[in-house]
Amino acid sequence: MSAKKAWGPGAANGRADARRSGPLAGAVAAPGDKSISHRALILGALAKGETRITGLLEADDVLRTAAAMRMLGAEVERDGPLWRVTGAPWAAPEKALYFGNSGTGVRLVMGAAAGAGVAATFDGDVSLRSRPMGRVLEPLRMMGLEATDENGRLPVALEASSDLKAIKVKLATPSAQVKSAILLAALGAEGVTRVHEPELCRDHTERMLAAFGAKLSMTPDGEGGRFIEIAGGQSLTACDVTVPGDPSSAAFPVAAALITPGSDVTVKGVLVNPLRTGIYQTLKEMGADIAFENEREENGEPVADIRARHSVLHGVEVPADRAPSMIDEYPILAIIAAHAHGETKMFGLEELRVKESDRIASVEAGLAAIGGDAASGPDWLRVRGKGQPLKGGALIKTHHDHRIAMSFLVAGLAAEKTVEVDDASMIATSFPNFFALMTSLGADLGPV
Ligand code: S3P
Repeated sequence: MSAKKAWGPGAANGRADARRSGPLAGAVAAPGDKSISHRALILGALAKGETRITGLLEADDVLRTAAAMRMLGAEVERDGPLWRVTGAPWAAPEKALYFGNSGTGVRLVMGAAAGAGVAATFDGDVSLRSRPMGRVLEPLRMMGLEATDENGRLPVALEASSDLKAIKVKLATPSAQVKSAILLAALGAEGVTRVHEPELCRDHTERMLAAFGAKLSMTPDGEGGRFIEIAGGQSLTACDVTVPGDPSSAAFPVAAALITPGSDVTVKGVLVNPLRTGIYQTLKEMGADIAFENEREENGEPVADIRARHSVLHGVEVPADRAPSMIDEYPILAIIAAHAHGETKMFGLEELRVKESDRIASVEAGLAAIGGDAASGPDWLRVRGKGQPLKGGALIKTHHDHRIAMSFLVAGLAAEKTVEVDDASMIATSFPNFFALMTSLGADLGPV
């Protein structure tokens, strides 16, 4: 390994690079799940009593939600490894709530603030300001909320509303963020709100609402989707939450093991809720040597240790209906696919255009820069692999997108020449110990 600068708080600013590494080996703990961490803070802030959270992901995105909860009136404090949240009736914050890079934080809190009947202004960084908020505002306005926005984007200002009405709505996009925003607003609306999700997406809000004592029902629609019904006027009761490891973050060390010869890596304590594991199913179909070991249930969620070994892979077709269960994993899948034999085609990707960056464009351009072969359409991506490492030797534009940065750094671990990314600081939004964890497995990467 070449000498790299030491890692520490604030070190992951600016450029970073990754170079060809020897076999990766070892067992590491996955960082806490980002989706569940946001929800634990928000529901804790709405609930009566003290919610104790273990394993909270202490990443920028989640810490912004914690700060927002404080500004809305809840007590949120870190007590050693535990986070304590004491709910309170929400009050209008004095300043705008700032969510940085976090789509989940801003959209869920928008719904919750609407339901709590408080006026609040929402803002974020340059990436978040470019992302659509109309998908959340539209159903909230149907409930009677008054709000202003900038052409459907941030900054958004909600007016206080004490008389929201329940709605019946069918999700136009399979988005857990939109679904969750509606369910949280519905807590404060008069009547029973019914959300129809034609394609199932992550159900952490529903599971956690039930754990906090809310009554809601989930009924299959007979065509693979479901109806979720929740009555307004319910109060939540604090409970203890243990956050499992994040399957989206775990995908990076798993991918690194699959493409780096001789590797054998285990990521422990990963959430394996089937609505989140599409990437692992896909990798197995590609011939990956991946095993879920020590499968167990923790706090009502299935958890496993994921063991991955270097594998000879082949291309596959990834069907559109799998997209909601692996929506954040396409960039790293594209990197893995570039190492497989043959073509991998991914369908149903229209939502990738409105993530932290246009991920189809970011991946296609990045792969082209390091010797990969990718093509795309409005909602699809095709990657051709030759069963060998990429050339590398380029600087990748990350467009403020943490998953683009991590994906291309992983590519660099197997590439012929160094792969550099223009901005690694965004990695802290979801995976603050990415560099330390990868380095502990033997990966040669770090700041430039
Ligand atoms: C998330 C839902 C997904 C995902 C995001 C986290 C959540 O977004 O991309 O990283 O926690 O609800 P959409 O619901 O908009 O697809």
